[in-house]
Amino acid sequence: LLSDFVKIVEVGPRDGLQNEKQVVPTSTKIDLVNNLTNCGFQTIEVTSFVSPKWVPQMKDHTEVLQGISRAASTKYAALTPNLKGFKGAQKANADEVAIFGAASESFSKKNINCSIQESLERFLPVVEAAKEHQIPVRGYVSCVVGCPYEGIVSPQAVLEVTEKMLDMGCYEVSLGDTIGVGTPGSIRNLLDVLLKSNESSKLALHCHDTYGQALANILMGITQGIRTIDSSVAGLGGCPYAAGASGNVASEDVVYMLHGMGLKTGIDLDQLVSVGNNISTFLGRKSESKVGRALQNK
Ligand code: HMG
Ligand code: MG
Repeated sequence: LLSDFVKIVEVGPRDGLQNEKQVVPTSTKIDLVNNLTNCGFQTIEVTSFVSPKWVPQMKDHTEVLQGISRAASTKYAALTPNLKGFKGAQKANADEVAIFGAASESFSKKNINCSIQESLERFLPVVEAAKEHQIPVRGYVSCVVGCPYEGIVSPQAVLEVTEKMLDMGCYEVSLGDTIGVGTPGSIRNLLDVLLKSNESSKLALHCHDTYGQALANILMGITQGIRTIDSSVAGLGGCPYAAGASGNVASEDVVYMLHGMGLKTGIDLDQLVSVGNNISTFLGRKSESKVGRALQNK
């Protein structure tokens, strides 16, 4: 029997803010994470330990991770592309780390400056060091249906990287539709292939909403048994190495949809809406969450 609980991984402080042009003060990031903790998320992706030359917005990673108030029921995660990143995250007490690869060669090169094969070789020592410290490792595969440089990506290419990450020791792989080109059709085809040889509990969906398909894609995933969904408060975000990619699906919209389906998330929607509207106001724009806007004036 499929569980009626869906785990939402809140990626706003990392995926949401990494592409922000204006420097977001460290204290604002800390407040955002603390406010999200109070909404009831089990996992919050707080920051990334990447090169500050590549993503300047994340260079206060250590200060943010050390400045937040932690709840025992929440895991605080960070991206770690290599051993240097892992060491930083471990020192700053990240509860979880994530390695991030891609199903497309060109995107791998643009995003982490190496081929898919080289990336896997770099991830191995990260996973080994994490095991030593008993820190769980999540894997990300980007461009699971389409790549900004190569176009359509085959489910077979995604399957290969996904299984290598799981074999390495990732407890789960999050399937990233980095540029939001997926539809319920392509997501269904992808999951049909992946679920032939992998448990649904090993997979998560990470949808960006560039083409307005994210909620429909998530619904398709839920129908196929996926129970972990990544989303970003107020729909913040985008990837700096995927031009034109817009934010992740908004957490408010995902929670509203899932609760409407009778599924549980453990998240307080009213509180989440106010967190989303407040960070949007701070950034000087309207929330990208339809639910956030609808409930704003209620
Ligand atoms: P590189 O230049 O090939 O690395 O970058 P390198 O090992 O040759 O090192 C070059 C310099 O970077 C050296 O400094 C290193 O010390 C430094 P220098 O001697 O020149 O002063 N360096 C680091 N500094 C801090 N932290 C580190 C680190 N590693 C090396 N961990 C690298 C390779 C991976 C570091 C680089 O390409 C990078 O930082 N890329 C990050 C890109 C990124 O963050 N992208 C966004 C996240 S992924 C995403 O958004 C997709 C996702 O949401 C899923 C989806 O939507 O699909 C996850
Ligand atoms: Mg992303």
